[in-house]
Amino acid sequence: MSEEIKVQLTATPGEKPDSQKLGFGKYFTDHMFVMDYHKDKGWHDPRIVPYAPIVMDPAAMVFHYGQAVFEGMKAYLTDSGKVLLFRPDQNMQRLNCSNDRLGIPEIDGDFVIHAIKTLIEIDKSWIPTEKGTSLYIRPFIIATEPCLGVRSSYTYQLIVILSPVGAYYSGGLEPVKINVESDYTRAVRGGIGFAKAAGNYAASIKAQENAKKDGFSQVLWLDAIEKKYIEEVGSMNIFFKIGGKVITPAINGSILKGVTRSSVIALLQEWGVPVEERKLSIDEIFEASQQGLLEEVFGTGTAAVISPVGELHWKEHTMKINEGKIGELSQKLYDTITGLQSGNLPDTRNWTIT
Ligand code: COI
Repeated sequence: MSEEIKVQLTATPGEKPDSQKLGFGKYFTDHMFVMDYHKDKGWHDPRIVPYAPIVMDPAAMVFHYGQAVFEGMKAYLTDSGKVLLFRPDQNMQRLNCSNDRLGIPEIDGDFVIHAIKTLIEIDKSWIPTEKGTSLYIRPFIIATEPCLGVRSSYTYQLIVILSPVGAYYSGGLEPVKINVESDYTRAVRGGIGFAKAAGNYAASIKAQENAKKDGFSQVLWLDAIEKKYIEEVGSMNIFFKIGGKVITPAINGSILKGVTRSSVIALLQEWGVPVEERKLSIDEIFEASQQGLLEEVFGTGTAAVISPVGELHWKEHTMKINEGKIGELSQKLYDTITGLQSGNLPDTRNWTIT
C-alpha cells in the first residue's frame, strides 16, 4: 500500500498526565490513526486525526457478532531522543493471523508500521521516560458494516490509539497469587484462542473476577477438554522453571503466540538455559512442587513483560514458589527485555527498530 497518510492536527492538545500516576491504559494521546476498508476498494484513506469518539451505526456488525481483533505493542524514547519499537513485524504477522481466523481482510504490515511510526512522531511528547513507563500502542480492527446477517462484514476500520503507561501491576514487579481455574475455559483448539480476538478477553472476565473476589490476582487456564494441561495465565503466556529447566506450553491452537513469549525462549536459548515447549499438566507442576523442584513461575506479555507468580492454588493445595519472592531468572528476563526495549542494552538481535 502506498497511499499517502493525510494528517489533521488537533487544535486543542490535551494535558499530559502525571508520569508517576499513569497506571495502564487510562490516558490517550492527542491523535489516532484511522484507515477504512471496503470490499470493493480494499484498505484506503489512511489518516491521522485528532483523538476523538467514533460515530458508528448501531447495526455495525462488531456490536453483534464480535468481529474485532487487536494488538499490543510498546514504544520507548531513548536518551538520544529516538523512538524504539520492539519487534513490530511480529505483531503485524499476528494481526494478520487473527484477521484470517475472524474473516477480516489482511493488512499490509509494513504500511501499518509506517503509520504507527508517523503517529508516534506526531505524539512523541507523550512518551513517558520514567523507569518502568512506556507508550502503549493499541492497533485494532472492527467490522463496521450495518447489517444483522451473520457473515463477514464488507467494511472495517483499523484504528491505532496510543496510551502512556506505567507498570501494568501497580505494585511493580511483585509475585502474584494465582488460582487454577477449574470451572471456566478460555479457549479450545479449533476456536479462536490463538487469535488476539476481543472475544477471548470477554470469555476470561468472569473467571478473573471470581478469582479477584477470592483474593487472587488472576487465574491459570487449563485446556478445555481434559482440564489438566496448562494453557495461559490471565491474558499472558506462562513459563515454569523446574529443576533447572524452563518449560512453557507448546503453541497448540488455543494458546496465543506471544511476542514476549518467543523473545523469552530466544533469550533462554542464548543463555544456555534448557527450554522446552510441550504439553505440561497441572499434576506435573504439583509433583514438582512436592519434590521442591518448582523453582520459578512467571507470565509473559507485552503489557506486564514478566509477571512472577509467588503462589499457585489448585484444589485444596497451595504451592508456594521461591518463598513468594521474585526468582533470579524472572528478574534477569525482565531487566533484559525492558533494557532492550528502552535502548539501555545493546540490541544485537535487531529486535528494535526506529
Ligand atoms: C498483554 O499482556 O500484552 C496483553 O495482551 C494484555 C492486554 C490485553 C492488556
